[in-house]
Amino acid sequence: MLTDGLHDVPAGKLAMVVTHLEMTARPALRKIALPDGVAFRRVQPDLEWYRDMILRVGSMEWLWYGRLKLSDAELGAILTHPNVQIFTVSKDGKDHGLLELDFCQDDACELAFFGLTPQLIGSGAGRYLMNQAITRAWDAGIARFHLHTCTLDSPQALNFYIRSGFTPYKRQIEIDDDPRLIGVLPETAGPNIPIIPKG
Ligand SMILES: CC(C)(COP(=O)(O)OP(=O)(O)OC[C@H]1O[C@@H](n2cnc3c(N)ncnc32)[C@H](O)[C@@H]1OP(=O)(O)O)[C@@H](O)C(=O)NCCC(=O)NCCS
Repeated sequence: MLTDGLHDVPAGKLAMVVTHLEMTARPALRKIALPDGVAFRRVQPDLEWYRDMILRVGSMEWLWYGRLKLSDAELGAILTHPNVQIFTVSKDGKDHGLLELDFCQDDACELAFFGLTPQLIGSGAGRYLMNQAITRAWDAGIARFHLHTCTLDSPQALNFYIRSGFTPYKRQIEIDDDPRLIGVLPETAGPNIPIIPKG
């Protein structure tokens, strides 16, 4: 049990506040069209496509690292799992978004990954992608759609999820190695989060 007050985080580690959100009924959706020149499609990604997308959507700005620590075999098993669905949005022939739906749990769907590269943030593509996520999740006959986001993610994300119909229900503190100090990400990633190396 954590006591009130400040708690030291060891040098070389990161500390994140994780917020869990859920919806237990299909929300009403405001119809929104894709921005001009943007296309949406389902993908069956290979390892290279997926790692590149994680890097461009989440790692360089927001320090996403969990999936980059996985071996080829571990990541390949997720990408080819029959209960995992992956989608993207593209513009001018380049993919700029990641939507990953995980139906591995009975009667539930997890929004496992969601985001856009800086090229499409603020374009309306995020709302379109969320409408797709909500529609596809509830069309599968689930009883619960859930996700978690953390304080490393874009500060726009939490309120975007709440506006989308998710309700926060649990908060956690997570401590982990700084991925820039263990060779998972370059030191230039996450410029808003300073590195505090060990002694
Ligand atoms: C979270 C994230 C997807 C939100 O995307 P966004 O850019 O804010 O989303 P949008 O482009 O849809 O724009 C946000 C709002 O502006 C509106 N908007 C902006 N530009 C618009 C346009 N040109 N036309 C129509 N609507 C537009 C959207 O409708 C939306 O309003 P709403 O939320 O009330 O519906 C985005 O910040 C992101 O990818 N961040 C990086 C990765 C990340 O942190 N992901 C979350 C991890 S948990």
